[in-house]
Amino acid sequence: MGWRHPSLCALYSTFIYAFICTVLLLVYIHFSTLPGRYSKSDTLNRTLERNIEPAIGVRFAVEQSDDTENLASLGGTDSVEYTNVIPVIDFKDLGHKKRKLLLLIIVSTAPGRFKRRQGIRETWWKNCHNNREVRCLFLTDGFITDNAQRDLIIQERSKYKDIELQPLLGWEFGLRFLSQIRWAFAKFDFQYFLRIDDDYFLCLKRLLAELPWRPKRNLVWGSFHCEAGITWIDESFMIFTPDIIDKFLSQNESTRLCHAHADQQIGIWLNDIPTRHLVHDSRLHHTVAPASFSPQFVNVTNVCDSYLGIHGTYEDKMRYFGLNSNDSMKVESPFPDFSTFCKSKTFDYRIFNKEWKYQPKLCKDNPRWNVGRTIYVGRENRPP
Ligand SMILES: *[C@@H]1O[C@H](CO)[C@@H](O)[C@H](O)[C@H]1NC(C)=O
Ligand SMILES: *[C@@H]1O[C@H](CO)[C@@H](O)[C@H](O)[C@H]1NC(C)=O
Ligand SMILES: *[C@@H]1O[C@H](CO)[C@@H](O)[C@H](O)[C@H]1NC(C)=O
Ligand SMILES: *[C@@H]1O[C@H](CO)[C@@H](O)[C@H](O)[C@H]1NC(C)=O
Repeated sequence: MGWRHPSLCALYSTFIYAFICTVLLLVYIHFSTLPGRYSKSDTLNRTLERNIEPAIGVRFAVEQSDDTENLASLGGTDSVEYTNVIPVIDFKDLGHKKRKLLLLIIVSTAPGRFKRRQGIRETWWKNCHNNREVRCLFLTDGFITDNAQRDLIIQERSKYKDIELQPLLGWEFGLRFLSQIRWAFAKFDFQYFLRIDDDYFLCLKRLLAELPWRPKRNLVWGSFHCEAGITWIDESFMIFTPDIIDKFLSQNESTRLCHAHADQQIGIWLNDIPTRHLVHDSRLHHTVAPASFSPQFVNVTNVCDSYLGIHGTYEDKMRYFGLNSNDSMKVESPFPDFSTFCKSKTFDYRIFNKEWKYQPKLCKDNPRWNVGRTIYVGRENRPP
């Protein structure tokens, strides 16, 4: 239907035009009178501060980014906007949108460990892809100083869509575990959480088949150490039920202790959870000599008949195990009582000798320990 009266049409146009002008003017006044200035690095600072705590990370992102155009585009509302700089994870809780999972697996990996990740992708990782109940992800430290390595990681992330970057620099140790569980809890609704190293061969089908029969609460499952009257879980493989993760995350922030080594930090935290159900699983292979270099694992097949996982498995051995692991549902026994393995259920960091002994510090202060500033090299690359 057309306008019958040209004068009425002009009146309406004028009115709409005036209205738009007023709105634009109000928007301009609103933003130009906000307290402080919205400089681009202020905005980046605030965006980062909301998403991560370590002050070092804030400094890093501001200093390291030579891409000032991208910084300018940061709106300050969401982490999505600083994915232009480094696509690090955020910790915003997804609420009811969290994906429901039987098992969430986080493989903690250093940026340079591409070959290990490939070994995993070509073996046990494949059993994640055809199963809606499990999600497998690599998590690495995203604040990478080397530009070439940073680009490689960003490319790897776009290509495989299975690796996420934490806003960390590679030396944060205990803080890294806190960051991993905080992210996991914010993004997924899982029944079991497995945090595992990138040199671990995992019999994932075997694990998935037994989970429905395992305890659903208070569970701390892995390979424990029992020495000098104390016990602690080896951080290379740790399964927790979400109530335990929730208790970790509900600690009083002003008194929560961090430690240079995540396994000691977890030992300290678990002392405060009287209901904890510790499970030492002898089907997890752990020895001082990595499995890759051990005569015990030369020419073995069907490793999943005897093991649930094998630590110290580097990429060649990973592929070798994967060729013929017979990973499948097995006849399993109930977990033995923890007391059959260790008389103690508690942990005390003071027992350690000099090499491993560090004073716990408040997590909120982003503590550092003098353990060297480089990324942990691991056993594979140690001089013999
Ligand atoms: C960003 O934050 C850091 C630490 O909070 C501060 O030292 C720095 O001056 C801030 N940068 C800008 C540009 O405001
Ligand atoms: C956390 O600990 C501090 C210091 O001990 C205390 O003042 C505060 O009330 C505690 N907060 C909660 C929620 O318990
Ligand atoms: C492993 O298998 C290869 C080929 O079958 C054989 O030559 C070699 O002697 C075996 N090594 C051991 C330690 O059994
Ligand atoms: C593979 O595992 C299944 C289940 O434990 C077992 O029945 C079968 O004998 C195994 N296969 C081989 C070749 O060992």
